[in-house]
Amino acid sequence: MKNFFLTLHMISMCLVIGTLFLQSLTVVFRLRLKSAEEAKGLEKTQSRIHKFIYYPILGVTLISGIVLAIKTGAFSEGKWLHWKIGLLMILIALGVQNGKQIKEAVLPKKYAMMVHIAIFIVGAFMIYLATIKPF
Ligand code: HEM
Repeated sequence: MKNFFLTLHMISMCLVIGTLFLQSLTVVFRLRLKSAEEAKGLEKTQSRIHKFIYYPILGVTLISGIVLAIKTGAFSEGKWLHWKIGLLMILIALGVQNGKQIKEAVLPKKYAMMVHIAIFIVGAFMIYLATIKPF
């Protein structure tokens, strides 16, 4: 059963990080569009992905992660999981910020870029902690 949840956790976490990474990049790309119609069309697609793909798949990652933690005793095994959960809180906050930026028609490009870069760095650290388990 552990293999099933580990596979589910791997697939869903790739989708969570990948979706957030690309969604935050399309916020930057949308600023370059010339017409309001194009921007409106893209906003609709971004909002649908945020609501119907990002949030549900985040739920699958959280649930499969909790099941794995219980099955492997990872909560008491070392500190890596506590750090990973701390970073997860930051990642969730960045996802909320991404959702807000999708709704904004005009915003400074540097704010959109900051969210995009932070998602990459936080996601990379989480994957490092879970695979290497440095402590
Ligand atoms: C977006 C959020 C998350 C990401 C990116 C992520 C990433 C990963 C990665 C890359 C692994 C693979 C480790 C390996 O076998 O090499 C893993 C395993 C694991 N994750 Fe997550 N995870 C996330 C959320 C969670 C949550 C919320 C929990 C629990 C509260 C959790 C608990 C675990 C556990 C217990 C393992 C198994 C480690 C082992 O095989 O010993 N994860 N995670």
